[in-house]
Amino acid sequence: MTKPLAGRTAVVTGGSRGIGRAIAETLGAQGALVAVHFGKNQKAADETVAAVKSAGGEAFSVQAELTEKGAAAKLFAAIDAELIRRTGGVKFDILINNAGIAPFVGFADTTEAVMDEIYTVNVKALYFITQEAVKRLNDGGRIVSTTSIVSRLPFPAVAPYSILKAPVDNLTKLLAAELGPRGINVNAVAPGVIATDMAEFVHTPDGEAMTLSKQALKRIGQAQDVADVVAFLAGPASRWVTGEIIEVGGGSGLTF
Ligand SMILES: NC(=O)c1ccc[n+]([C@@H]2O[C@H](COP(=O)([O-])OP(=O)(O)OC[C@H]3O[C@@H](n4cnc5c(N)ncnc54)[C@H](OP(=O)(O)O)[C@@H]3O)[C@@H](O)[C@H]2O)c1
Repeated sequence: MTKPLAGRTAVVTGGSRGIGRAIAETLGAQGALVAVHFGKNQKAADETVAAVKSAGGEAFSVQAELTEKGAAAKLFAAIDAELIRRTGGVKFDILINNAGIAPFVGFADTTEAVMDEIYTVNVKALYFITQEAVKRLNDGGRIVSTTSIVSRLPFPAVAPYSILKAPVDNLTKLLAAELGPRGINVNAVAPGVIATDMAEFVHTPDGEAMTLSKQALKRIGQAQDVADVVAFLAGPASRWVTGEIIEVGGGSGLTF
């Protein structure tokens, strides 16, 4: 059977670890050539690329530290060079905006430095990466961003992170309208708590109990739970879905 993403090329920011790694592996298994972006951890990116390849897919890694000025240009210089070598051009089909940080800091303890860092990585870099991507995306392409359930249900333990996920939701709707005429669908997934390095607290008894108390489904969410929804949004079956923020949180915060 033909794989749904055969012949497609995907860029996954923060594709080296956690949710991004699961997304990269899933898109690779569905036939896409995957550019696995990372910032600091080359080893994790190499492992992700190897995992995609060992499942019969194709992938390569690209480095760009997103706190640096000009990060989007640097990222696409690396992607362009590799895509020209592999495909003869710089066009691609799927952008997954997934890289992010979530420092544990509440409202009263928030410093300008931590606010600037979260804004730079989670909002500014995502914005300009998307701007560069839109120049290169084929018509009929897809953009899927990883926002968070905390933009609807602010989490006081990560106050500046909570408020700075809301712009991702806003951009998703803005771009869905702007890129609709090109047949580019723009959506976001809003995970609840997912067991990755970012959410280490779920591995403590208190963290696990707190998380489960807020969810309808009584287990801890895994990166693959998110990757499967992202793969749907990145693929042909989501053709009539755009401008949506889809919560992937096991039914988090459903009732008062
Ligand atoms: N885990 C959750 O509970 C949860 C819930 C809701 C939403 N999310 C969102 O899901 C996305 C992925 O989260 P995760 O849990 O998978 O996180 P993670 O395991 O900590 O992985 C983060 C990824 O982003 C990259 N990254 C982080 N800072 C970077 C920087 N300054 N420059 C370049 N790359 C950078 C990392 O690469 P390097 O290691 O190489 O720097 C890594 O690949 C984020 O947008 C997060 O906000 C997560």
